[in-house]
Amino acid sequence: MNEQKIIEQFNRIPLGRLDTPIEKISSLEDGVEIWVKRDDLTGLGLSGNKIRKLEYLLWEAKEAGADTLITCGGVQSNHARATALAGAKLGLKTHVLLRGADGVIPQGNLLLMHLVGANVHPCTPEEYLERDAHMKRIASDLRKEGCVPYIIPEGGSNALGCMGYVRACKEIADFERQKGVTFDSIVCAVGSGGTYAGLRAGTALVGLGARVLGVNVCDDAETFTRRTDGLLEELGDRLGLELPLNPEDTIIDGFVGPGYAVPTEACRDAIYRAASDHALILDPVYTGKAFAGLLAEPQGGRLGDRSLFIHTGGAFGLFPQAEAILT
Ligand SMILES: Cc1ncc(COP(=O)(O)O)c(C=O)c1O
Repeated sequence: MNEQKIIEQFNRIPLGRLDTPIEKISSLEDGVEIWVKRDDLTGLGLSGNKIRKLEYLLWEAKEAGADTLITCGGVQSNHARATALAGAKLGLKTHVLLRGADGVIPQGNLLLMHLVGANVHPCTPEEYLERDAHMKRIASDLRKEGCVPYIIPEGGSNALGCMGYVRACKEIADFERQKGVTFDSIVCAVGSGGTYAGLRAGTALVGLGARVLGVNVCDDAETFTRRTDGLLEELGDRLGLELPLNPEDTIIDGFVGPGYAVPTEACRDAIYRAASDHALILDPVYTGKAFAGLLAEPQGGRLGDRSLFIHTGGAFGLFPQAEAILT
């Protein structure tokens, strides 16, 4: 079976504006040639990388007869916002378990979740450690009320969700063929790991030569290598492929700073540089740190001569952090 047929075996509800454009933003004379895949343009409220995952997950939810979605994330979760908006579009109710949402003024992603009528369940960081158990409890309460809930894990990052980025690799391969360019590396932010795992599986499936590099925005390289291996084993079974596990040096570590969602100097610089030089809007939680990781890579190293940065969206997370970005 060819790669197109393998990908098409998996059903999805089209939610995003795909294929997304690929643009060159700097040339080889500046060092590494950098291109950007504009997954920030997959929609407006339905923007960013999460839509690609939700296309697959929501097909499964609908197939299961679900009328209610349950998911989780931080107070400014792009994933929870995208799920709430996709739910509104498809006529599904949404419940979101949100870390740190208690008593905060809704803005950014949280404001959008309120606008579409998502049911917000605030929780503390300690409670969030048991997020899967909490989501199961919410599901069980909803079942008692006659609802049919469907639980989406954090970031939509299970093997089915990863299919979104397997499919994105076909777009990249088609672009390479049509334009006669080849990328030596593909760089993305790593938050829950699904985008990175999907890209790793997708490059193997469609035969892209690019090395996939992930910049972790929380935890560390070891955590994500372990998590990604688990996802790749499951994805390999689904795709009928033996996927390479545990490659060396494919997580660009060291850009988390003091913690998840806390902007660093390098992240601020990357946000300013992307905006002022390329009119690209990055965010302080994911894409700012990922772009900082890319910019810091030494010439002649892992990026190769030509690198493709996946702009995974996240703009709504910029505004609630205006003060931290401007100081
Ligand atoms: C804007 C943005 N970029 C990147 C990521 C990371 O993607 P993943 O969770 O698939 O690792 C996320 C979510 O976690 C996100 O919201």
